[in-house]
Amino acid sequence: MFRTAIVLPLFALSLLDFASASPLESDRGVAIPLAKRGSLTKPDGRFDVAKANATRMQLQRKHRQNLISAERHLGLKGLSTLSPDAFPHDRKRGGVALTDQEEDLLWSGTITIGTPPQKFSVDFDTGSSDLWVPSSKCSTCSRRHNAYNAALSSTGKLKNGTFSIHYADNSTSSGPIYTDKVTVGGVTVTGQFLSAVKTESSQLAQEPTDGVLGLAWPSISDLNSDPFFFTAIYQSAVKEGAFAFKLASHGSELCIGGTNSKLYSGPIEYHPIISQDYWQIDNGSVSLNGTAVSSGFKTIIDSGTTLMGARAPVVEEFYARINGSRQDPELNGYYSFPCDPVPKVSFNWGGRDWEINASDFNLGESGEPGQCVGALVPLDLGPRVGDDVWLLGDTFMKNVYSVFSVEKKSIGFAELA
Ligand SMILES: *[C@@H]1O[C@H](CO)[C@@H](O)[C@H](O)[C@H]1NC(C)=O
Ligand SMILES: *[C@@H]1O[C@H](CO)[C@@H](O)[C@H](O)[C@H]1NC(C)=O
Ligand SMILES: *[C@@H]1O[C@H](CO)[C@@H](O)[C@H](O)[C@H]1NC(C)=O
Ligand SMILES: *[C@@H]1O[C@H](CO)[C@@H](O)[C@H](O)[C@H]1NC(C)=O
Ligand SMILES: *[C@@H]1O[C@H](CO)[C@@H](O)[C@H](O)[C@H]1NC(C)=O
Ligand SMILES: *[C@@H]1O[C@H](CO)[C@@H](O)[C@H](O)[C@H]1NC(C)=O
Ligand SMILES: *[C@@H]1O[C@H](CO)[C@@H](O)[C@H](O)[C@H]1NC(C)=O
Repeated sequence: MFRTAIVLPLFALSLLDFASASPLESDRGVAIPLAKRGSLTKPDGRFDVAKANATRMQLQRKHRQNLISAERHLGLKGLSTLSPDAFPHDRKRGGVALTDQEEDLLWSGTITIGTPPQKFSVDFDTGSSDLWVPSSKCSTCSRRHNAYNAALSSTGKLKNGTFSIHYADNSTSSGPIYTDKVTVGGVTVTGQFLSAVKTESSQLAQEPTDGVLGLAWPSISDLNSDPFFFTAIYQSAVKEGAFAFKLASHGSELCIGGTNSKLYSGPIEYHPIISQDYWQIDNGSVSLNGTAVSSGFKTIIDSGTTLMGARAPVVEEFYARINGSRQDPELNGYYSFPCDPVPKVSFNWGGRDWEINASDFNLGESGEPGQCVGALVPLDLGPRVGDDVWLLGDTFMKNVYSVFSVEKKSIGFAELA
């Protein structure tokens, strides 16, 4: 989330239209179409410095905040555990198709809140745990954004307390807390905690989506309550305690309550998560042209982040293996490398290699002839995260079918069909 300051029109897609047209019932879950917007590569193939500068800043803001949340909540709530009983068999299926627009910066989809339903476009973010949208009483929010009007919802209930997000740059957004009915891709839950924000800093108001739907674990919820997908599990609204993403130029989809076997081939390679906060797995290694460059690191898989990041010294070591690469001060810390050939970058967690397509690693020409910008960037994840953590966003996720299983407490990867 918060990855672009560029405003593009919303793709004309609504869940309701989608549902009445053809409810895409996959084998396990329901498919939600996702829209993606914005690109760090200009139409002429050059790297968009201004947009990239903003993106990297925003990426940092978000993760700083999540870490603050983790710190605040982990000690208090402890780690949540799910009993196997939470998964009865009479579950429904749910799904959201993800729609593509322009290139690769952000995927979003439509949800509804309230009775009768009010429609919103949200970022489906595996790196945070709260649902928030603008309030109809928000004076600083963008007029382009849809706003939640609790008075128009017969199922909306005001709760005690205030939700507030505080970013590292001191911008804030806050508002009252409600519970209401929420529908995502045909999966409906009742009494879902959410916030309708009444103040929004200008950066947030410039986001193309109305709000965010967090898909990470309850322990990092600022609302201190169950995120949508956990509510869906507890209310038996989903068939299976897993959701899965296909992020691509065409046919992107979030499957809620299972996986869509039409979208992947071969087995799903599962890896246990190492904590119940972010979606995080251990024993990662990264290779250049098949030679391991760094290994034994932890990896956060984050649909709310565009690129891939690691601590500055780790990233420096990575690019040191690519002849002719350099950190470019004019590119606000991004690295450039000789465009031809783009090195083969792949990740491995003890199973097969998951390779990143050259067109995903290469963000475009830097402005210096023959130099291109790499999608691995130095990232300050804050003091709580160790030196050995990598953050893999959409750049990685576009190359695999990714499954987030609450039931198995695992992340799975499979080859895209
Ligand atoms: C991007 O950030 C760098 C470093 O802060 C700055 O020198 C450069 O002018 C910025 N570029 C644009 C286009 O904003
Ligand atoms: C809100 O706070 C008031 C006063 O502390 C309390 O009486 C009430 O039960 C609380 N309501 C909810 C929904 O928690
Ligand atoms: C945010 O506010 C705190 C406390 O006032 C201050 O220490 C910090 O430097 C500020 N950060 C920025 C980026 O302005
Ligand atoms: C990767 O392999 C290509 C072709 O064999 C070679 O030209 C390039 O230098 C290699 N790059 C790295 C970083 O090993
Ligand atoms: C990088 O350059 C060095 C020195 O010119 C050379 O020995 C090495 O093979 C090059 N590595 C790759 C991967 O091209
Ligand atoms: C960790 O990954 C390496 C390959 O990168 C593999 O050989 C090893 O078995 C893995 N260890 C575990 C515990 O999965
Ligand atoms: C890499 O991406 C390009 C552009 O999206 C696509 O045409 C190509 O088929 C992809 N290559 C592989 C091996 O998937």
